[in-house]
Amino acid sequence: MATEKTKPNLRASISFTPEQMAKKAAQEIKTLLEKNPYAVLGLATGSTPIPLYEELIRMHKAHEIDLTKPTYFNLDEYVGLPVEHPESYHSYMDKHFFNHIPGLNRLKVNILDGNAPDKEAECRHFEEKIDAAGGIDLQILGIGENGHIGFSEPGTPFTERTHLVELTESTRQANSRFFDGKIERVPTHALTMGLATIMDARKVILLASGPKKAESTYKAASGEVTEDLPASTLRNHPDVTFYVDRRAASHYPEYVKLFSSPEAVLR
Ligand code: GLP
Repeated sequence: MATEKTKPNLRASISFTPEQMAKKAAQEIKTLLEKNPYAVLGLATGSTPIPLYEELIRMHKAHEIDLTKPTYFNLDEYVGLPVEHPESYHSYMDKHFFNHIPGLNRLKVNILDGNAPDKEAECRHFEEKIDAAGGIDLQILGIGENGHIGFSEPGTPFTERTHLVELTESTRQANSRFFDGKIERVPTHALTMGLATIMDARKVILLASGPKKAESTYKAASGEVTEDLPASTLRNHPDVTFYVDRRAASHYPEYVKLFSSPEAVLR
């Protein structure tokens, strides 16, 4: 199905369940690792990628892929949470991914330090490390209800690289479910890859599951390319696939039309 506004490079894959969606996304990563076992992978947090990490770990244990070889860069981290706090993204990544990869060389893991005394220097250093690794081969993304990616909030210039960000009320509200439902416990700031950093990745996969993501994903896939909706910048990326589950697609008949076949290629 085609819309005039949608660029030829945007692919979409619709699945019934988040688990099926994860399996398809994992296949794309497997294909990349078959070509380049030492690829540089950009990782995301949130509830959406958890089934993907589970599938990658299953594949690793079944010797279908080797997760000890890639280098990893995480999208973002809260400012001011101790690393060992259960909701820090360091803890998240250990719990859902890194702790399940025996023999992983921790030097291959790069996560922003939200407690670095000089945040600007930390962000610059992170960018330098990405460059030194040869750039990101594949970036995994979730999407916020307001269309943010990483923690690049609406209004972030598309040209921004890794930076300190003040989180919006809507993002803190959405993430308060991880902090006993108390918004005041959600950090007010974060460090995040910028949209320009993400756009430099050679391949991008965006995962969206559940009805709360329907609107932002639909707008990103088919609406105006605008800094008010950070994910819309992906429409100008040469190699991006939206992996969407039926609940993220179901609210909008138009959206279902756009993503009408399991491996629909949008024009
Ligand atoms: C956080 C993360 C984003 C993530 C978003 C959605 O804000 N910084 O990278 O995409 O949450 O999370 P979830 O998948 O839990 O809805």
